[in-house]
Amino acid sequence: MADFSTRIDRTSSDSTKWNKYRDRDVIPFWVADMDFTAPDFVLEALHERIDHGVLGYAEAQPALVDAACAWFWQRFNWKVDPDWLIWIPGVVPGLNIASRAIGSEDDALIIMTPVYPPFLSVPENSNKQLLSSPLIYDGKKWSIDFADIEDKARLASGLLLSNPQNPTGRVYSENELSKLAEICIANDVIVVSDEIHWGIVLDENRSHIPIASISEEISLTTITLIASTKTYNVAGLNCALGVIPDPSLRERFVDATTGFVSHISPLAYTAALATFLDRSSWIKDLVAYLRVNRDLLERCVDETPGIAMAHVEGTYLGWIDARSLQVDDPATFFENHGLGFSNGFDFNGEGFVRFNFACHRDLLLEGIERLKRAVSSCNLGS
Ligand SMILES: Cc1ncc(COP(=O)(O)O)c(C=O)c1O
Repeated sequence: MADFSTRIDRTSSDSTKWNKYRDRDVIPFWVADMDFTAPDFVLEALHERIDHGVLGYAEAQPALVDAACAWFWQRFNWKVDPDWLIWIPGVVPGLNIASRAIGSEDDALIIMTPVYPPFLSVPENSNKQLLSSPLIYDGKKWSIDFADIEDKARLASGLLLSNPQNPTGRVYSENELSKLAEICIANDVIVVSDEIHWGIVLDENRSHIPIASISEEISLTTITLIASTKTYNVAGLNCALGVIPDPSLRERFVDATTGFVSHISPLAYTAALATFLDRSSWIKDLVAYLRVNRDLLERCVDETPGIAMAHVEGTYLGWIDARSLQVDDPATFFENHGLGFSNGFDFNGEGFVRFNFACHRDLLLEGIERLKRAVSSCNLGS
């Protein structure tokens, strides 16, 4: 069984997450990486690759392509043809490439909000319009506004989907994905599906379903962007996959990469291969640890009047509604109480903050104490 109980000191490392608050008593619960080491089998593969000594330009080897296809089948019951795979140095570059590959300039892209901030600049980066479709929040759950998507689909060439959803933690059901697929197919809207959080499904009665795996029809109008970097905590080793069954869409995607997409490093390919070959219990153990963290955070929020949070089905991100606190800028307010959250404003989610709970349990408990103290300092209702 993998062990997540060792606390790793990242304060003197190159960590983006930890360096933001280097000289302040602020615990970093922001950017989406985990404070855990990558699994031993990944680290061993990297050591072995380094021992080879030469780290020149690299390309995906047949063993990697085979491992990826076998992985899609075993994990998602999705038969992926090797020809469909395009290797790219990250999912965010993939979103931007996809936007260039579909429709034409001045078209529009539908994006459900709140969403991971880089989504929001994708349309403008390729001279397209952003059609924001706010998710519906009933105080307990976030859901897709299908009527709104249907309206906007007539005006759009693409829809950018985040599933499992960052930041709300929704893991969309087959029913929801089928409905979305139906609308997109009927309106000739290409789905660009970012599935980077596939491995972090916390609810036992849920599983990640790639939208393209639902039917051949939707697979032919979908660009799936996926990577193992988030699940195995090797996000610094940029390597991702575009899965594009339709040959002409694939060709347009490849054309759109010309000139501005960097090489994937040999170490990133090596890590990717190790993860696609993984049949251990590492993800199961990770998810079990994260589930306890999630439950602790959910209980704290439930018991703290003034803040609210929908149940987190997947990802290691809690999307906290702090609007009732009536503070000008919740992210700064919490920072002043020693909590470094992501600012909801950047996600088109003003009044919210995002709490990354993929950390050592002791750190989480300290964060939870600070959260309660911060909220109680607001003297709500008095
Ligand atoms: C939904 C989502 N997509 C993409 C990324 C980043 O992907 P990459 O580092 O492969 O560009 C993140 C990182 O947090 C994310 O949460």
